[in-house]
Amino acid sequence: MKMKAIDNRGLAVVVLAAGKGKRMNSEVPKVLHRICGRPLLAYVLDQVAALDAGEVIVVVGHGAEQVEPEIGSRGRPVLQSEQLGTGHAVMTALEALDRRYGEVLVMPGDSPLLEAETLAELIEARRAGPSAASMLTARLEDPAGYGRVLRDEAGAVRGVVEESDATVEERAIDEVNACTYCFDRAALEAALGSLGRENAQGEYYLTDAVAGMVGKGLLVVPRVCASGEIIGVNDREQLSEAEALMRDRINRSWMEAGVSMADPALTYIDFGVEVGSDTVIMPLVFLTGETRLGRGCRIGPMTSIKDSTLGEGCSVELSWLDGCHAADDVTIGPYSRLRPGCELAAGSRVGSFVEMKNTTLGRGSKVPHLSYMGDARIGEETNVGAGSITCNYDGEAKHETVIGDRAFIGSDTMLVAPVQIGDDAATGAGSAISRDVPAGGLGIERGEQKIVEDWRRKKRKKGRE
Ligand code: UD1
Ligand code: CA
Repeated sequence: MKMKAIDNRGLAVVVLAAGKGKRMNSEVPKVLHRICGRPLLAYVLDQVAALDAGEVIVVVGHGAEQVEPEIGSRGRPVLQSEQLGTGHAVMTALEALDRRYGEVLVMPGDSPLLEAETLAELIEARRAGPSAASMLTARLEDPAGYGRVLRDEAGAVRGVVEESDATVEERAIDEVNACTYCFDRAALEAALGSLGRENAQGEYYLTDAVAGMVGKGLLVVPRVCASGEIIGVNDREQLSEAEALMRDRINRSWMEAGVSMADPALTYIDFGVEVGSDTVIMPLVFLTGETRLGRGCRIGPMTSIKDSTLGEGCSVELSWLDGCHAADDVTIGPYSRLRPGCELAAGSRVGSFVEMKNTTLGRGSKVPHLSYMGDARIGEETNVGAGSITCNYDGEAKHETVIGDRAFIGSDTMLVAPVQIGDDAATGAGSAISRDVPAGGLGIERGEQKIVEDWRRKKRKKGRE
């Protein structure tokens, strides 16, 4: 990040994450809902970490035991056992905060798109003058649901009114409060001390601290930021909006890094996935979990790749990969399903309607059509014919199939595991192979073919009789 270095050793950050998120209608605490593969709170804590503040407090309450592990070493949880509002949450945090911190940045745990640079600007805006606080705002086309920023004729901030307490005229204001502020601690403590609960929700509103400060003649400086950054997730619709914005951010960063996307709106890349340059991604591709793709790959359309790595120059079309590792120049699909534990060596190929699980495929080997390979070790330059199947499960346990190098598995071979096929060995089409085939040998198991001469004529004649 190209952020100007500012000294934040005397700054404490308070992240508000104790609310239940009633409007989510969920068993999951709100800040643990995910966008692009990770919890809302994780994005917030990343940006906070970039500030290098002296202390980070995360106010937890609802579902604290689930939220705390997500915080890890990136902050200190402080319990707000009763959620009496954002003002009360900040009071609770301040009680647990060492006196040496004279400046406090407060932000919500449900605003995953806020960027560290914006937070740094907010901090600098307060430090630039004799102000008690700086507050982040944005102008929204549809401000519904947010607190509105009240300003006087000169443009100075007078306070914030929550939507549920606002008059019709106030609701028409399009400048909203981001619930993100940088405070002088002493001024904040004084303002919180005189908060009441006489409002529509019966809560201690942090927003009232702003009017409290202004009423005492203190200065609160507004800082207007890009509207997309301040989106707060209160319900499922906002969750999907936040996800769309985050997805767009991720996709743009990959396009800048040299990845082509036929349609970014239909490209779904989780946070943390890596894609090499000159890779081309077709529509309806889902790259999730711990996935890394090399350079010059061609992925999609309609492909899901989860927790997998691909080398350079691979092609995956209309396929489903999970926990799979492919080296360079591997071709997969259309219509392949690779389940966990597959290792595909360079130049190998998995074709249409092939399922694989826990299988290694050697350099240059091919399983081109309609096969199931499970618990198999397949050597190099081996060809597995159409319709071949490893019978790896006997109803009780899984067994291994080992196939050597340059082997030829005839079409429709049933490999009844445990079984081994040696190097340069072959199996006859349609064989059920249950005994090992030695190197260079042929395993064949099928009934002998009979010929009935002149069968058509005899059949017709029989019909006439
Ligand atoms: C809040 C602001 C609103 C602003 C909006 C921006 C207040 C009163 N309102 O409204 O002006 O436009 O954010 O997104 O501040 N929380 C606690 N403890 C509590 C209550 C809330 O930790 O007792 C946490 C929540 O988990 C959440 C954050 O504080 O992460 C904000 O609370 P929320 O209920 O989402 O407030 P909004 O109604 O969105
Ligand atoms: Ca909110």
